Amino acid sequence: MMKKWWMESVGYQIYPKSFYDSNRDGIGDLKGIIKKLPYLSKLGINLIWIGPVYDSPMDDNGYDVRDFYKIDKTFGDINDMKVLIEKAHVLDIKIILDYVLNHTSDEHPWFIESRSSKNNKYRDYYIWQEGKLINDKMVEPTNWGSFFGGSCWQYDDISHSYYMKIFSNKMPDLNWKNPNVRASMVEVGKWWLNLGIDGFRIDAVSHLERASFEDIENSQEKYPLDWHKFSNLPKVHDYVKELNQKVFSPNNCLAIGEVGGEPTIESALSYAGFDANELSMVFFFDHNWCNNIFEIEDPKDLKIDVIKLKQVFLKWQVGFSDKGWLPLNWLNHDQPRLMSHYGKLKYFKASGKMLATLMYMMRGTPFVYQGEEIGMTNYPFSKVEDFNDISSIHYYQYLVNEKKEDQSKALIKASMKSRDNARTPMQWNDHKFSGFSEVDPWLNVNPNYKEINVASQINDNDSIWTHYQNLFALRKSSKYRETIIYGTWELIDFENDKIIAYLRNDQNYSLLIINNLTEEILNYELRSYLIETVVLSNNEVQVMNENVLSLKPYGSIVLEVKENL
Ligand code: GLC
Ligand code: CA
Repeated sequence: MMKKWWMESVGYQIYPKSFYDSNRDGIGDLKGIIKKLPYLSKLGINLIWIGPVYDSPMDDNGYDVRDFYKIDKTFGDINDMKVLIEKAHVLDIKIILDYVLNHTSDEHPWFIESRSSKNNKYRDYYIWQEGKLINDKMVEPTNWGSFFGGSCWQYDDISHSYYMKIFSNKMPDLNWKNPNVRASMVEVGKWWLNLGIDGFRIDAVSHLERASFEDIENSQEKYPLDWHKFSNLPKVHDYVKELNQKVFSPNNCLAIGEVGGEPTIESALSYAGFDANELSMVFFFDHNWCNNIFEIEDPKDLKIDVIKLKQVFLKWQVGFSDKGWLPLNWLNHDQPRLMSHYGKLKYFKASGKMLATLMYMMRGTPFVYQGEEIGMTNYPFSKVEDFNDISSIHYYQYLVNEKKEDQSKALIKASMKSRDNARTPMQWNDHKFSGFSEVDPWLNVNPNYKEINVASQINDNDSIWTHYQNLFALRKSSKYRETIIYGTWELIDFENDKIIAYLRNDQNYSLLIINNLTEEILNYELRSYLIETVVLSNNEVQVMNENVLSLKPYGSIVLEVKENL
């Protein structure tokens, strides 16, 4: 099988605004990341993905880029970036940055030009359409809704037309049909690789083409969101192939694309199959919502559907087995916190460790999201003003204004899914502002920082943090390394709706990973296998004899086994 450096990496996602503030302005920055590199190295990380740090008016925390070649002053400057790359490389840590292809900020010079007149050079850098006249009234070219709520068209007073924006009004979509747009973005990519970074996380890559502009029929909503209108359409592959040829392949860099819009395995492989010549991997979201979160009114009613979750793992692990490579991640900066979603606070340590074992013993490249390694949780939002994220605010307003929901219910619903849950400052210690900053941060610190923080876990052998460290040590330097990285993956006992168990195999070892996803005490009988060694556990599993285990709530274990002949 083809082997690449990034298959053997352990990744970590940094949300720069919330990681560490080095200069007392309440906002995380590049110098802050530099300070924490030894921390990441100690955890076993050798690849970091840093969210957008480019010059930006911060309508969407930096995903609205004003200048692709400049670091935003809140994060530092280009020199800080150079130092960061250098110091990371000394510690053997590779760096990937967000490559934001779908849109720019409306304050980007290209857009300022583009909107200024209908016949200027940059007009076709964006997607412009005339409005439709209905009963003498001008309306949007189509009724399509956007990801952040409302129409995906915005009227522009200056040139009296509409521009497309599938995210916020301040993020006009680039027109990838235009070869000049493609050439400009190729230059951006090359420039950053030249500076020394090791690759990209490619933002919203699946959205670079739009369907023909026709209304969505039969919808109850004024602006229905049907992402098929702008997700995974055929031309996207031509664009990504061009990037691969001109940017990724010549530099042997890592290119991991965010592929939303519910891709099938076939579609995902067409981006990231070994022979696709497009991306190294794709981030997907199937496992993020394997519960009833869309139906409930109270987070207490949250239930994990174990079988559904298994189906997702089965679909992706088997679909990609010998055809491509996968990232392993539970969450990112757009998802609620793992512990509040799939974990159980009552069994904090046990469930936090179990979830880590379940995910990171699979086949693929781990990506830990900052704070996950200490079990950070959702924020207890008590009023709409607590939200900073544009999509949470829009969603709340939509529930109250359009769905006529009670304000307190709307708040709970928006809270459970809010992207701000993942964006509260990193909890480094139990000092004021959780050691993230010495001044009041841009987003409130979760009040549980006194109990949940790095300082209290890093030297504790029984902590979630140490469990992450142990898992990554196994993957990086134990005798099971090759088996964990390149071995086959096989789900066993599919019908069991409480336990997720799978095997990792190669010619040298068979590892069996068993996870109890319930609060029950369960006996588990290994019929076809005998236990050779306990490799790692969360201390919630008792080995009764060589083929029977007793799993306490959220018990989790990694065993070396041999076949029971
Ligand atoms: C991606 C990012 C998200 C951002 C959006 C628009 O989905 O992960 O945070 O809002 O793209 O750039
Ligand atoms: Ca700062």
